[in-house]
Amino acid sequence: MCGIVGYIGSRSATEVIIGGLQRLEYRGYDSAGIAIYDVEAGLQLRRSVGKLSNLVARVTHEPAVGTIGLGHTRWATHGGVTEANAHPHRDASGSIVVIQNGIVENYLELKSRLLEQGVPFQSQTDTEVIAHLLAYHYQREGSLAPALRQTMLELRGGNAVVAFCIHEPDRFVAARLGNAGGVVLGSAQGEHFVASDVPAILDYTRDLIFLEDRDLAVVSRDGIALSRLDGSQVARPTVTVPWDPIAAARGDYKHFMEKEIHEQPRALVDVLRGRIDHEAGRVDLEDLRLGDADLRRVERIYITACGTAWHAGLVAKFMIERLARVRVEVDYASEFRYREPVLGKDSLLLTFTQSGETVDTLAAMEQARDQGVPSVAIVNAIGSQAARVADGGPIYLHAGPEIGVASTKAFTSMLVSAYLFAVRLAQARGTMTPDQIRPHLQALVELPGKAATIIERVIPQCEELTEHYHRASNALFLGRQQNYPIALEGALKLKEISYIHAEGYPAGEMKHGPIALIDEDLPVVCIAPRDDIYPKMVSNIEQVQARHGQVIAIITDGDDFLPTRARHTLSVPPTIPLLQPVLTAIPLQIFAYTMAVRRGCDVDQPRNLAKSVTVE
Ligand code: F6R
Repeated sequence: MCGIVGYIGSRSATEVIIGGLQRLEYRGYDSAGIAIYDVEAGLQLRRSVGKLSNLVARVTHEPAVGTIGLGHTRWATHGGVTEANAHPHRDASGSIVVIQNGIVENYLELKSRLLEQGVPFQSQTDTEVIAHLLAYHYQREGSLAPALRQTMLELRGGNAVVAFCIHEPDRFVAARLGNAGGVVLGSAQGEHFVASDVPAILDYTRDLIFLEDRDLAVVSRDGIALSRLDGSQVARPTVTVPWDPIAAARGDYKHFMEKEIHEQPRALVDVLRGRIDHEAGRVDLEDLRLGDADLRRVERIYITACGTAWHAGLVAKFMIERLARVRVEVDYASEFRYREPVLGKDSLLLTFTQSGETVDTLAAMEQARDQGVPSVAIVNAIGSQAARVADGGPIYLHAGPEIGVASTKAFTSMLVSAYLFAVRLAQARGTMTPDQIRPHLQALVELPGKAATIIERVIPQCEELTEHYHRASNALFLGRQQNYPIALEGALKLKEISYIHAEGYPAGEMKHGPIALIDEDLPVVCIAPRDDIYPKMVSNIEQVQARHGQVIAIITDGDDFLPTRARHTLSVPPTIPLLQPVLTAIPLQIFAYTMAVRRGCDVDQPRNLAKSVTVE
């Protein structure tokens, strides 16, 4: 949820930057700060906790003057919500300032190296590690751009970084690594801008350049010089966006769904922000109103949701039962409300909803309340009805607005939130110790980077697949265990946007009926990552092949057996099995999207569907 704005020109940098940060307020944040430079006044840092209005009050009281500067709104990841943890962060000499969006996955390792060298730390953030590393490389390189290049090459994880050094007062440098943080540059006569999101700078320019993974930009009053992190030169097109805010928000993408698929690495960073504490081996869910004692009392959890969100609930059942050892039942909200469920006092209702306005989901929550059962809502839309009525608290996804009717980034963020909730519950109930939790936290922070790898790799592969299958009238999706709901989700995505009839099945059930459908025209998508159940999936795949079905297998990197059996394979990086659905879902979203585009369908607004289902 972090927002980045930077400015160099002739206007008041404070005004431009704070105005830009205000336009990003919808993304959510918990502290904000600016660093403004002027030859006479020097480097002026102003930071404050809470709303931007606090920063504005601070700056009114203690102005920051200058025509170059950086600003940031922070959503805490490492370290609490304090002024010391707010960005910008400085190196030990105070001459370098840095703002960042992303998570430095190896920050503990880098921090202990710097501590050994005697570097003093002022905050608990991973960002400060970047400032000190940058100072270290600056001493060797003597210039900011190569120093930032060396620094970025030491970071693991998706990160967008903007840096300024008082010894080079006519420029700032921005770099992007991975896809967890976007960087957009804006150009106007004699002035330039950098931001994490387009709306921040649209008041000043419509001419934008989007940095790609491993790009670096040196931004001065006169222009922007682009290069790659390996030092080679590169050119990126200038995109002129329309004033129409909807079209502007879609940016360079053809559809919102495409944009939202690409936003997943960043959404996965945002859902983790402030919620994981590597050092303590803990998960903290800031909005949850249930304490350890409440969570220990829970004997049974009812999950209710609709559509894609219901699929997230099905995966959540595996996570919660395995990690926290609490019994879980999953219902369609539209069924739950009419089946007169018997909810005991030791129960908890857990709902998943992107919009927070789905009428059946709200009715299920009401039913729980009538029976004295607390509810927790995993929800995206801030301030929505579900967030307000969840007496146990909302757990916000912080995925940003999802406009495409077919849910993508909200779904994968729901899976990660469910995992956080399961670990939080396990922590309270003592079924996991901090030492056991730590590797799970590491697996979580590695997800955004892995999601980015999949997106980049699978899009061209799926475009190629559509050439074979765009005329199909049916498709079958198979998976087992926690990947069975992903088979359901893959089928739902395909049917809703491409209008191809598709069914999802637990692979073991295939021989009890669906096998009759298999012939040489039927694409059968088999989710077969390397896990305990892999040998069973392999034999299901053999059964499909024997009947001449067209197998598209979702496999794990390094599996060289299934490519010899399946007609096509799409490969995803490995992770711990309970988190695999976050990754296996993405190729299926891309498959559905590319098929729908190939068939000329209205991807963002498929017929008969609404984004928010507020009627029964
Ligand atoms: C499918 C999809 C729908 C929603 C469902 C629930 O891609 O988006 O199935 O998941 O209508 O909506 P929310 O999550 O807003 O409650």
